[in-house]
Amino acid sequence: MPQLIIHGGAGKIRNEAEHRAGIEEALNCGWGALIKKGALEAVLSAVSCMEDNPVFNCGTGSSLNLDGEVEMDASVMLSDGSFGGVAALKHVQHPILVARKVMEETDHLLLAGEGALNFARKMDFPEHNPITEIRQKALEELKQSGNLPYLPKLSQALQNRTSPGEDKFGTVGAVARDDSGLIAVATSTGGIMGKLPGRVGDSCILGAGTYASRDGGVSCTGHGEAILRLLLAFRACERMHFKKAQEVLSELALWAKDQGCSCGLIGIDWRGNIAFAFNTESMSYGFTDGDSMVIF
Ligand code: GLY
Repeated sequence: MPQLIIHGGAGKIRNEAEHRAGIEEALNCGWGALIKKGALEAVLSAVSCMEDNPVFNCGTGSSLNLDGEVEMDASVMLSDGSFGGVAALKHVQHPILVARKVMEETDHLLLAGEGALNFARKMDFPEHNPITEIRQKALEELKQSGNLPYLPKLSQALQNRTSPGEDKFGTVGAVARDDSGLIAVATSTGGIMGKLPGRVGDSCILGAGTYASRDGGVSCTGHGEAILRLLLAFRACERMHFKKAQEVLSELALWAKDQGCSCGLIGIDWRGNIAFAFNTESMSYGFTDGDSMVIF
């Protein structure tokens, strides 16, 4: 039986109803693709749906860097080892679909910055402005408050929080397993509001925010620098060889918290067990196996 689980970010979810509606829409898109075309199309469909929804911090509606620009990270991985990612990519509508092209059309795993943008144009992705007024206002409020999260060298007043109205760890992700047993994972984000230009987080890094193997697939959300240090998605998939997905993710979310890593994880193991865990105040997520759909 095929399965699909998606997340819309962890932290404090301020606009819960909008998040839930967005998760439901993306789950429906992903499920339709899963049935007709398999796991890869399912995760791409669910994530590109969320990239079009400004409530999520990815694609249109991404967080802004300190210069007021959007730089997006995204990656996709399959349980056969195929991987593609883009880092600090500007001016496209669907970074996750550019990541797919990196996986399918190049000999590389990850393209960054201007090179990634040139590649996207060669692949016929048109110019797109992902900046929204809501995010512009949030950046201004953040700058005025003097609290630039995770930038202690720029802000003496580091208080580990974002500006009013800003969900803390917005990243979206999807994990699907189809009838052939193939597992696909996709993750996409605008990163941290007020980040330094050129900053790259965990979402596009193989083994950090995204990983898939014959043991399972995992997508992470949370504080990118901390997730990178722990290589969280890789660690989770390795453990799924021996343990069920839920046991693995629950243990890792607790362990990550002890390491100072605020995060959430979703995953599916090789047996077809769906799992989720987070150590933040909340996480928006949902899953379906066709019989039932659950949304949080
Ligand atoms: N987890 C998303 C980021 O920190 O970039």
